[in-house]
Amino acid sequence: MIVATTIRAVRARRQELDRLGRRVALVPTMGALHEGHLSLVREAARRADEVWVSIFVNPTQFGPNEDFDRYPRQLERDRELLEAEGVALLFAPTTKEMYPKPPSVLLDVPQLTAGLCGAHRPGHFRGVALVVVKLFNILRPEVAVFGAKDYQQATVIKRLVEELDLPVEVVVAPTVREADGLAMSSRNAYLHGPDRQAAAILQAALRAAAAALVAGERRGQVLEGIVAAHVASEPAARLQYAAAVHPDTLEPLETVGDRVVLAVAAFVGGVRLIDNLVVEVP
Ligand code: PAJ
Repeated sequence: MIVATTIRAVRARRQELDRLGRRVALVPTMGALHEGHLSLVREAARRADEVWVSIFVNPTQFGPNEDFDRYPRQLERDRELLEAEGVALLFAPTTKEMYPKPPSVLLDVPQLTAGLCGAHRPGHFRGVALVVVKLFNILRPEVAVFGAKDYQQATVIKRLVEELDLPVEVVVAPTVREADGLAMSSRNAYLHGPDRQAAAILQAALRAAAAALVAGERRGQVLEGIVAAHVASEPAARLQYAAAVHPDTLEPLETVGDRVVLAVAAFVGGVRLIDNLVVEVP
């Protein structure tokens, strides 16, 4: 596995692959890799000749009071995991390499980021959009794989690619979960003792709303109320939002049609967790 830390090195490798006609599938990450990330790597391997992974804890997507400084960094372990998966290239740039000066470009998709996480993390999706477009321009992958776990993020990226005519195919792969339903996340490492068990309430809450939907409940607000009530039943959890939104526009649905995204964000033991479920109405 090639480990590249500079834009220059990775561009040189990309030019070689262009000459060979080899296709690259990229999995962008912030590291502290878990099975969710590795499932994206495996999906990427099915879609191109080489898998490339980027690890970059992107400062521009963290708010001033968020966890940028304590975000888990374990590059050596990550490197071994990726090597074992047969990844061809790991791009792990420094902050200075990615942002030699403070960025002045704003990439904003206000329609898609007004609600859900966007409402609670001002500037977050601008940071994500900027770094992902930079990564696409630096690495020039034919395919890029993202996780459904971050549904709003994947939706924003698909829209950017469409409207900016970026020559990359975006693939969204399913959420990988722990045995009790908790969506895998690098931030789960912050959960200790009883909080770890309590965190399963997010998925349980979404499932309860999905069950009500299947049983005939179509009112978006009632479904949101079911999610909220379940989260409230867990004393260690504090709800940030519960939403029933349209899968493409991310707008709240008064009445659910044939598809809905049920989404939740909550703090468990001070750790902010998110989850979602895409439900097809029978
Ligand atoms: P990170 O949180 O490291 O996630 C990297 C990718 O892994 C994202 O596409 C995310 O949706 C996916 N992922 C995380 N947990 C998952 C799970 N349990 N199952 C399936 N996929 C999962 O998301 C980011 O980094 C950053 O915002 C990034 C896109 C790299 C831009 O900085």
